[in-house]
Amino acid sequence: MMSPETIKEKVQSIIQLPALPTIAMEVVELVDNPKTSASRLGKLISTDQALTAKVLKIANSPFYGFPRKISTIDFAIIVLGYDALKEIVISISLVSSLQKKSDTMFDAKGFWDHAILSGVLARRLARDLGYRVSGEVFVGGLLHDMGISVLHRYFKNEYKRIMEIIHETDLTALEAEESVLGVTHAEVGGWLAERWNLPDHLVEAINMHHTPGRADKNKDLVALIHCADIFAWRMSPQPMEFDKGAEFDADALNHLQINDPQVLQEYMQTYRELVKVDLEAVTQFDQSRGA
Ligand SMILES: [Fe+2]
Ligand SMILES: [Fe+2]
Repeated sequence: MMSPETIKEKVQSIIQLPALPTIAMEVVELVDNPKTSASRLGKLISTDQALTAKVLKIANSPFYGFPRKISTIDFAIIVLGYDALKEIVISISLVSSLQKKSDTMFDAKGFWDHAILSGVLARRLARDLGYRVSGEVFVGGLLHDMGISVLHRYFKNEYKRIMEIIHETDLTALEAEESVLGVTHAEVGGWLAERWNLPDHLVEAINMHHTPGRADKNKDLVALIHCADIFAWRMSPQPMEFDKGAEFDADALNHLQINDPQVLQEYMQTYRELVKVDLEAVTQFDQSRGA
C-alpha cells in the first residue's frame, strides 16, 4: 500500500497541468477587461461545446431563480453576470481538465450532475440561511469531489479496488478509500487544490467536506458545502456510489443551525421540488440539443 505521503507527492507532482486550462485563462482575461462585450465573451465560450452546455445548464437551474429559459450564451452572460460567469467557467474547466470519459467504474455524467447540483445547492442554502453569498460557495460545491476524478484518472488500480470494495462489502465509500489508500478523496482533492493555488478556505472546504468539524479557517463555507453535498446526494435520482454511506455531520448541522430534524426536512422538501424542476429543464435542454 502506498503511504499517504507518497500519494500526496504523486498528486502534487504528476499533475503538471497549467494552473488553469487555456480557455479558462482566456475567459478570465476577457472578464477582467472592462471593455469586453457580452458577445465577445459569448463567442469565446461558444468555441467549447461542452463548456457551453454546462454554462447553460447552470444558468437554467431553478436554483438560480431565473424564470425564463436561457438558451444562448450571450443571454446567460447577462443573467449570471461577469463575475459569476468567471467562477463557473474556471471551476468547470478545472474539473474538466481532470476528467476522462465514463467507463464501467466511473459515471462521468453522474459525477457532473452531482458537482453542479452541489454547487447550486450550496449557493442556495447559503442564501436561505442568510450567509453572504460569495462565488466561493458555488465553486466549492462544484469542486468538492475533484479528488474522485484524480483517483479515477491517476490511481487506476487503487480506484478499481475501492469500487470493488464499495460494491462487495458494507463499507462506506470513505472507509473503502481509507482501507486502500489510507486517505480519502477529500484529502486528495485538497492536495490538488493546494497545488493549483486555490484560496486557502477553498482548499479547506474540499479537504474537509466529509469532516466539517475539523475546519478552522472558514467553518461556514465547509459546513455549507458539506450539507449541500449530502442534500445533493440524497436527492439525485441515481445516487453516486462514490458517496455511498455519506451522512449529515452533526457539527455542520449545529453550525448552520439546521439540526432540528423538522427544519432539515423542510429544506430537503423545498430543494427536492426545485431539483424536480431542474431535472425536467435539463432533460428538455438535453433533448432540444439532440443529446
Ligand atoms: Fe465527497
Ligand atoms: Fe459529493
